Order: sequence, then C-alpha cells, then structure tokens
Amino acid sequence: MNYIGSKYKLGNFIKETILSVAGSDLSDRVFCDIFAGTGIIGRNFKQEVKKVISNDLEYYSFVLNKNYIENHSPIKNKEIFIEELNNIEPKEEFIFKNYCKGGEGNRQYFSDKNGKKIDAIRTKIKEWKENKKMDDSLYYFLLTSLLEAADKVANTASVYGAYLKHLKKSAQKDLILIPAEYEINNNRHQVFNTDSNKLIKQIKGFILYLDPPYNSRQYGANYHLLNTIAKYDNFIPKGKTGLPEYNKSKYCSKNYVKEEFEELIKNADFKYIFLSYNNEGLMPPEDIKNIMSKYGKLDFASKSYQRFKADKDENRSHLANNTEEYIYILEKN
Ligand SMILES: C[S@@+](CC[C@H](N)C(=O)[O-])C[C@H]1O[C@@H](n2cnc3c(N)ncnc32)[C@H](O)[C@@H]1O
Repeated sequence: MNYIGSKYKLGNFIKETILSVAGSDLSDRVFCDIFAGTGIIGRNFKQEVKKVISNDLEYYSFVLNKNYIENHSPIKNKEIFIEELNNIEPKEEFIFKNYCKGGEGNRQYFSDKNGKKIDAIRTKIKEWKENKKMDDSLYYFLLTSLLEAADKVANTASVYGAYLKHLKKSAQKDLILIPAEYEINNNRHQVFNTDSNKLIKQIKGFILYLDPPYNSRQYGANYHLLNTIAKYDNFIPKGKTGLPEYNKSKYCSKNYVKEEFEELIKNADFKYIFLSYNNEGLMPPEDIKNIMSKYGKLDFASKSYQRFKADKDENRSHLANNTEEYIYILEKN
C-alpha cells in the first residue's frame, strides 16, 4: 500500500540499524512497533523475535496488522474463500450509495462497478463472520485482502482527502482480491488498536520502534474510506467528501507533540528505543535530542532517500526530492 510515511523502502536500513545496536540474536526478545501503519517494520521482525507487539490508532491498520503480524499459522482453504469472493454478484450497499457516482452521495471514490463489488464482498465477509463460518484469522486475512484491493482501484490522487473528477486509469480496472499472504511462524504476536501513550503503560519489552506522524496530516482523515470499509458500520456521510468523525492524533499537532512524545519516552519500559523522524517534521531535531537524552544514552543513524509525496498528481508513485531520514537510538537508563 502506498502509505504516507511508509517505511517499506527503508525497511532494510531500519532492520540493520536495530540489529547492529540490539544484537543479532533476538529470539528471546519482545519487539514493539507502536505506530505500525502498514505493519511493514513488525513484519520484518516477525522471524527474528519471540513476540511482535503491533499497534496503531487507526482501525484499518489494526486489520492489516491482525493479518500480517498476528496471523502465524496456515489457514485451510483460504484460496477457496478468495475465489468465491472474486466471483460474487455485485450489490448496491453503503459504499456504492455513498462513495460512487451512481449512488445518492454523488461522490466518486470508486467506479460504480467496484463500489458494488466492495459492498458485495464486505457484506459476505460480515455474513460469514456472523454465521460463525470463520474464525478471526480468516476474517482479518479476507478483510486485509479487500482493503488492499480497494486501495488499488481508489479514484484518488493518493489519499482519501478528496476524489478525482474523472475516473483515472487504475480506478477503471476491476477490483480483484489478491491473497494478503502473511509469514508462517511458531510464535504468538499481539496487535492493538489504541493510543500509543495509553498502551505504553501496559506493555514492556526489549526494542521499541517509534514511527509517529511527523506533520499535521491526520491519518484518520487521509485514509477514512479504508476505515469505513473495514468497520462497515452505519453513519451518515456528510459534505463533499463524506468524511466521518475521525481520530485526531496529538502527534499531528505542533502544540501537543513535544509533550506527548516526552510522555511516551518517559513511560517506555524498553531497553532500546528507535525513533524514525523526518528532518522537516513538527519536532525539530534539537527538541528530539533534548527530550530523548534526558532518559538515557543517545545515538543516531541516517540515510537519504526519495520521499513519497501525496500531491494532486494522478501518478501515485510520484516522488519528491531527496530527504534525510534519521533514526534516533536511545539506550534507556
Ligand atoms: C508514519 S506512519 C507509520 C508508518 C509505518 N511505519 C509503515 O511503514 O507503514 C504513523 C502511524 O501512526 C499512527 N498514529 C498516529 N497517532 C497515533 C497514536 N497516538 N497512537 C498510535 N498510533 C498513532 C497513524 O495512524 C499512522 O499509521
């Protein structure tokens, strides 16, 4: 998924940095990715550690992580479910009615055909879940496959803050579920859907990886349609974009971010804390250094890379100029 702040491209650099500091044998350790987003960093550590704890404030991210992190045993016949869903009869329900041009809302986040397909698939998944035809593993696997497929055919420039007037090429393609394959592993992992600053008081471990938002763009607003598909509960979408009530993270606010960040560092019962933060973020490097160094020994690693840019360009993989990504490394007292 093309996600704001995704560490997909930086995964190797982050993993190598963490292993070089915390040691290469982590088989007895707990690793926590507390702002998990797509879950890519936790996924990179699933085979390395005893347990991955993964968390995010947003529900769509929880769904992705329930699949990619918590699912760890094979699911029987999962391809048969995917095939049945791919061949389902379209249905005119919530997504079509509110987020497609042919519906009442006159919004165009998806083509009419794909909106009806999303409705049909989501309704069937809900029905199977309610009829106890499947357990949580299969439920989150199918829901993740749907979220990723829907995101691929969304008629947006990059995020869901607005839709495009005309259906772009990728949005004209038919939605097809591709199995959201996760890694098989003997260990049990744990996924949460809460505020980082609340969760931090309830967990402990060896490595804490922090990748908070670094600007004022709220994820709940930018990815609201993924939450809507994932939750599939009833509400009345309002305004031009049909944006529901959404979570507001204090990490996206210049007024609150420093205080919130310091609370997190202070309350963390982890030996090592690794923070990814952009050099142009809401918290200047000096402030981050001052806060972190109060709680232990601070070190750094950095890498320059091409940044994902959520702009009005139709091309979703548009890249801006090089930017510097820092990892702050804290060994806690
Ligand atoms: C930069 S992104 C993380 C990207 C992730 N590392 C990846 O590669 O996909 C920041 C994430 O923090 C989440 N978030 C924002 N505020 C939060 C909070 N207070 N507690 C937990 N998660 C939060 C957002 O929903 C978003 O997914």
